[in-house]
Amino acid sequence: MTIRDILKMGDARLLRIAEPVRAFDTPELHQLLADMRETMAAVNGAGLAAPQIGVNSQVVIFGGTARNPRYPDRPLVPPTVLINPVITPLGTEEELDWEGCLSVPGLRGKVPRWSRIRYAGVDERGQAIDRTVNGFHARVVQHECDHLIGKLYPMRVRDFSQFGFTEVLFPEISAAEDD
Ligand code: NI
Repeated sequence: MTIRDILKMGDARLLRIAEPVRAFDTPELHQLLADMRETMAAVNGAGLAAPQIGVNSQVVIFGGTARNPRYPDRPLVPPTVLINPVITPLGTEEELDWEGCLSVPGLRGKVPRWSRIRYAGVDERGQAIDRTVNGFHARVVQHECDHLIGKLYPMRVRDFSQFGFTEVLFPEISAAEDD
């Protein structure tokens, strides 16, 4: 396992449309996921998408078994590997809430997301995943899957009066974290 460098906004590789994964349960895919898990853990990420480490594949991971110090007041999301995802909004309701991104260090912005979604895809062995979720879980999935279509959360921000530095907006988080 290797902690990989996380690409930052401005890097053109973050703007690509990721390729679907066609082969499952391969050493290459397991290696990619091991690197992604280690990289995400090293920086307390809520999630990580393969394009963020320069791999242009439709692979995201998110969630964990302990509270995330970067999002201390948010509910737990089950640790998930999601490959070739398809998101379907359920209803038209949106929620506005704060997001950060490991590729946009030091900043937070309020981002509108679908309140309730169904997401489908497969795991690293090609086994189907099909879940209906809402709230923070739905937000994390939408954020991570946006990385697979070249979208970073600032591109979704509508009101830039609600965008700023973590250390100013959330000094209690910034004291513990360096993003
Ligand atoms: Ni992100």
